[in-house]
This record gives sequence, C-alpha cells and structure tokens, in this order.
Amino acid sequence: MYKVIHIRNAAFSEDQWRQYYDLLVKIKVRFKTMLSSRSWEQMRDRVASFCEMDEGFHPMVVSDGDEIIGWGQLWVRDTDAPEPAGDISLDAYYDEIPRKFVHRVASEIEPLMKHHGCIRAHSMTESQRISDAIRMWRPRELNRVDRFRLYRKKANLEAIDHWLKTIPAANSDLRLELFDPVPEEHLPAYVETFERFINEMPTEREELQPYRITIESARKQTEWRQKNNVHLYTYALLNQQDNLVAHSNASINELNPADVYQAITGVLEEYRGRGIAKWLKAALFRKIGEDFPANESMTTDMRAVNEPIQAVNRQMGYVLESQGNEFETSVNDLSRWLQEEKD
Ligand SMILES: CC(C)(COP(=O)(O)OP(=O)(O)OC[C@H]1O[C@@H](n2cnc3c(N)ncnc32)[C@H](O)[C@@H]1OP(=O)(O)O)[C@@H](O)C(=O)NCCC(=O)NCCS
Repeated sequence: MYKVIHIRNAAFSEDQWRQYYDLLVKIKVRFKTMLSSRSWEQMRDRVASFCEMDEGFHPMVVSDGDEIIGWGQLWVRDTDAPEPAGDISLDAYYDEIPRKFVHRVASEIEPLMKHHGCIRAHSMTESQRISDAIRMWRPRELNRVDRFRLYRKKANLEAIDHWLKTIPAANSDLRLELFDPVPEEHLPAYVETFERFINEMPTEREELQPYRITIESARKQTEWRQKNNVHLYTYALLNQQDNLVAHSNASINELNPADVYQAITGVLEEYRGRGIAKWLKAALFRKIGEDFPANESMTTDMRAVNEPIQAVNRQMGYVLESQGNEFETSVNDLSRWLQEEKD
C-alpha cells in the first residue's frame, strides 16, 4: 500500500513538491520539528542541488495511494572512502509510525547501502516517535539525545550579556572572529578540530565509529550553502599564534531565519573550563539577533550525557523540547530484519 518515490531519479511533479512541502509543514506544526525551507520551490531547489553535489544523497518520499505521508533518506557521505559513512533518517505524519512504512523505507535503503559499500549508518532522532520506528530494525543503541530550543523572548539575557562582558576580558590572549564561510587559510585546522570535537563528545558507548570529514567535503558544502541562501555563521577563537582553539556554528536560511540550527561547539582540551563555550554561544546568539531581526529561536541537539554543554545551554535559557536517540544500523541488521519480516 505504501509507495516510495526516489526524488533523485523521479520526474517529481510540481504538485508532488507542493504536497511534500505541505506535509513537512504539518509535521512541523504537530511535532515541533525544524523546517528551514520557506517554500516548496526553495525546498525543491535545495534538494536538487544537494543531489547534484553529492551522489550519495538519496531522498525519498512515501505515499499512501496518491497522498504523500512521509519521507526517508540515506546520505552516504564521502562515497569514495574505503568504508563510507551513512546517515539514515525518516519521518511520517503519525503518532506511531506504522511498521509497514518503516519496512518500505528500509527495503529501499538496504540496496543503496550495498551499492555504496556502506556497512554502517548512523541515525540521530529528536523524538521517541522516530526512535520507535528505527528500533523496529533492531539497530545498535548509542546515545540518548536531547533536543533543546532557545526562544529569544525567554533567553537569559542577563547571563548572556554578563558572559560577553566578563569572559573576553578574562581571556585577552584570545581573539574572536566571525567566519561565513571559514576562510581557506583556516580550513585545514577547522576541519581537523571539527572532526576532533565530534569524536571527543561524551558518549554512553565506548566503541563508536569515528566521525570523519574531509576538506573537500567541507568545501562542497560551503558551495552548496552559497547557492542556497544558507549561512553557516562560525565564531572562532584564535590564540596569539593565530591557531584555532575553539569554534561554534549556526546554520541560518537567510530567506527564513525564524528558527536557526546551532550545531557543533568545541574547545581544545587545554582551553576548557574558562567559559569559552559560553562566550562563543553568547556571541552567536547576539550576532544572529542583530543580523537577522526575524530570528525567533535557536534549536540544537546534544547527547543527554554531555554535561558541560547541557550546563551552558540551560544557563542561556534553552528548554528541553523533545528526546530521541542515536543509533547505528549495519547493512546486515537491515537485511536480517527485512528477511524476518518477509518470512
Ligand atoms: C562542551 C565544551 C564545548 C565546553 O567548553 P568549555 O569552554 O569548557 O565550557 P565553559 O567553560 O564555557 O562552560 C562549561 C560549563 O559546564 C560545566 N561543567 C563542566 N563539566 C561538567 C560536568 N561534568 N557536569 C556538570 N557541569 C559541568 C562547567 O562547570 C561550566 O559551567 P559553570 O561555569 O556554570 O560552572 C567542551 O567540553 C568541548 O569541546 N567538548 C567536546 C565537544 C563537545 O562535546 N561539544 C558540545 C556538543 S556540540
């Protein structure tokens, strides 16, 4: 009964784009998810240019009869790597995502993983609804994830402005710079530290797949953003030798800046505990407010066990919006589950 349409290969009609966008709006309103595109046209252009940029990107929509009711996605990053890393995500307009829906999406993703030689894929969900769906194929559970949102009207401005006054003064050996995008001369250090910060995040599991990113893929994503009205504001701190010691970023759709996504914040180990994460995040919050007056909120996801970043976010006024999980699915997990469901 469910039908999957691969956006990459399909002649996806205007009417289908419209329907798909309306579905995402409905999901956003009902489940408070993020939706950065401002219109179906913008979403269509973004998805098309992402497909063009990255041959490992496989977006798909799921319909029930003629009605689009959900979506799935596999993104195999760095398809030339010996063991490319994958990301799987999905959602549908249901309180409980039906098993048959999950099965349909899994049966499309499994051959694509095989095609790219992708042995394991990562999923990060922001809700139990989606976690329950992914759990059906019995992946490895990695971490609990908290989704937090900072509503500008409820932010702790007193703390934020106090940090911006006192922390730079106490760290006068460091210089704050805003990058959009990260300049070429800092790109190697940025990519190296970005990878390191992700791999250093506290985890409930010891044996995690190391996260990898290449300078080439960082450049490609910058190009994609520039074509699609997306800014990645990155506040960086440089020491007196001009070395990058910390950074924090947020992704902003300039055509729809109401909610922005605040992603990775990281500080080199020897600089931690000096208020630097607070400084970077407070500076981002203020700068985005100044440059994008229509901004209302900032959304972020973090591991439940990441005490230091939880402490900073809570002090800024971030509130817990929902809780999900991080999973790792091997292609063998998927094959086994699909076989069992068939039997
Ligand atoms: C998270 C990280 C960015 C924090 O940087 P930092 O500059 O040391 O952070 P700050 O000094 O600004 O503030 C840390 C706060 O967490 C608190 N904290 C630190 N460890 C804690 C713990 N185990 N439990 C509770 N609170 C803790 C500190 O006390 C401080 O709050 P306080 O000043 O009110 O006491 C840094 O640890 C890091 O780079 N970690 C690896 C990457 C990562 O996990 N990034 C976050 C996810 S995106």
